[in-house]
Amino acid sequence: MQHKNLLDHKIGILGGGQLGKMLAIEAANWHLPIYIMDQDQQFPAVPYVPFFQAGDFKNFDDVVQFGKKVDILTIEIEQINVDALFYLENEGVKVYPKPSTVKVIQDKGLQKMFYQERNIPTAGFRLFVDGKEIIEALKNKQISFPFVQKSRKDGYDGKGVVVVSNKNDVTNLLDCPSIIEERINIKTEISILVARSASGELIHYEPVEQHFNQEANLVSFLICPAELDKGTLSKMNEIASLIAIDLDLVGLLAIEFFLDENDDVFVNEVAPRPHNSGHHTQNSCETSQFEQHLRAILDLPLGSTRQHSIGAMVNIVGEPGYAGKTKYVGIEECMSIEGAHLHLYGKTETRPFRKMGHINIADKDRKKVLANIEKIKSTLRVIS
Ligand SMILES: Nc1ncnc2c1ncn2[C@@H]1O[C@H](COP(=O)(O)OP(=O)(O)OP(=O)(O)O)[C@@H](O)[C@H]1O
Ligand SMILES: [Mg+2]
Repeated sequence: MQHKNLLDHKIGILGGGQLGKMLAIEAANWHLPIYIMDQDQQFPAVPYVPFFQAGDFKNFDDVVQFGKKVDILTIEIEQINVDALFYLENEGVKVYPKPSTVKVIQDKGLQKMFYQERNIPTAGFRLFVDGKEIIEALKNKQISFPFVQKSRKDGYDGKGVVVVSNKNDVTNLLDCPSIIEERINIKTEISILVARSASGELIHYEPVEQHFNQEANLVSFLICPAELDKGTLSKMNEIASLIAIDLDLVGLLAIEFFLDENDDVFVNEVAPRPHNSGHHTQNSCETSQFEQHLRAILDLPLGSTRQHSIGAMVNIVGEPGYAGKTKYVGIEECMSIEGAHLHLYGKTETRPFRKMGHINIADKDRKKVLANIEKIKSTLRVIS
């Protein structure tokens, strides 16, 4: 691809949520014309893009009609009508990540088979068509407690994931095509971000240690770099490269790993786009994940992933028990913290555990970073 006329490339993003917004803001530095499609004008990215089209990214015709307007089409969510992406690719639109990549990743069943075929370590699993089949398998002792059920499609932010510890939890089973996974005794959850350009340049970011809210299966905060021994890190980096290359990835890829109590490494899942576990890069890294994704899909040289500080991110989520018009409590106090950077998504309605924004911390002192994470967690609340 010619690099000279960056401005000539119309870039379409399917999805206008916070990831689309942050991509659009980064694209504005290069004055790239960004086109966004999502359901309506209320979505976070809409005020920041020159072109918005209302449409459903699960609808073939909507995606095709939108995709034909742009030169490069990318996504901020995997649950896209993939037939439309294949159609557009055939018509000459550059679709990154490629439709073949999206097809595997948007189905957790296909994703697990992809790992299995390559001997990439991942929690043992079985595929099921519905809840009834799982109950049968439990009766016949083909599966046993504890296990984790995940819907094959449409899960996000922990929705579509059910931890089934004993027979009392069986009523929580999802009645849809799903996978059942063995429950791993997780010591740490690590994410590695990589970027791969259209011509195959590949780069890794420093590993990220993620801490989850157990109630919501959702990231509470993260810190980067994670403190890992050399052997574990090189194993993870090797797996990350292998996955990116075998998926023929173009753009950014977040690889979520579990590290268990024996320090065994398991791949949980991947996401082919900027990711919640890469938000700290905005304030503590040479090149943010959003700029990197744009570089990769435009086939520009990839940017340095050097951390200039320790990076942390605290998710700002809707307080349980509150739903309605968004009210933030404690913003000023958090903003007075040295090295803290506020990012809000502009969602006017809050719901329990809805992602409303995040605060990044950049600082050279790890102890101070950890103390400030706790301070933000105990100060900031989103209520209605
Ligand atoms: N096999 C497992 N054993 C133990 N815990 C698990 C297992 N699978 C998932 N979890 C827990 O549930 C969380 C969410 O699972 P997963 O990443 O598959 O779902 P998701 O909804 O796609 O997540 P997100 O969109 O937030 O990345 C994991 O980060 C982990 O904390
Ligand atoms: Mg996940």
